[in-house]
Amino acid sequence: MKNRLSKIIKPKDGRTVMLAVDHGYFMGPTTGLEQLDKMVLPLMPYADTLMLTRGALRNYIPPETDIPIVLRVSGGTSILNDELLHEGITVSMEDAVRLNVSGVAFSIMVGAKFERDTLLAFTEIVDEAESLGIPVIAVTAVGKDMVRDARYMALASRIAAELGAHIVKTYYVEGFEKVVESCPVPVVIAGGKKTDEMTALRTAHDAIQAGAVGVDMGRNIFQAKDPVAMIQAINMVVHENATPAEAFQSMIRDRSGRYSRR
Ligand code: R5P
Repeated sequence: MKNRLSKIIKPKDGRTVMLAVDHGYFMGPTTGLEQLDKMVLPLMPYADTLMLTRGALRNYIPPETDIPIVLRVSGGTSILNDELLHEGITVSMEDAVRLNVSGVAFSIMVGAKFERDTLLAFTEIVDEAESLGIPVIAVTAVGKDMVRDARYMALASRIAAELGAHIVKTYYVEGFEKVVESCPVPVVIAGGKKTDEMTALRTAHDAIQAGAVGVDMGRNIFQAKDPVAMIQAINMVVHENATPAEAFQSMIRDRSGRYSRR
């Protein structure tokens, strides 16, 4: 378990840049990921782990690729369904082991009328993953009718940890320190919908300063104007304590096409 956790959260600084490209499991061909390999392969040198589905791993990522995999093991509803995120188990832990993953990710939906289904399925995964020494990342999804504030995120994160999550993935909100302080396991933030690059860098920075160990970011990287430059800038914020302005500056290319930082 500790060995696998160290593949996700880097022991050198206790931080992580997780690249999330699992969106297709409920959003189909998400903008930027239509040809997932073309987008993702150039980003991988700057990611600590890759979070994706079994089908994406099989079809787009060469087996020789040397990057720790966090496998999404929940799903079952699409963006066309009113009960979005009413998810169950979509991958057996036997297959997760066969795929040699470093962790698995499962979405829970605290506060939804079907929360019980997602929480109980989550604990099934935790039980199996514990016996195999595989860390489980709880993805605390937020329904469209739920208030996205520190009180709710702290509630969902703490429940996830109490039920056995090894890492909690949540959203950055004002007062994020409260979320981190009351969660006994490491917290990473999702990026959420695409915003401008500076805002995304500031969110990552503020989350790290509030105690998050890193990001599990997707759209704000692969939908950025320059995804390779953006993931490098995120890397600077997470691993080098760069300010948002310093990281943003690093994305500006000179006339030869080189980034200003190098
Ligand atoms: C959502 O549940 C998916 O797991 C995404 O991987 C996650 O939301 C992170 O991606 P983004 O930064 O695009 O929100």
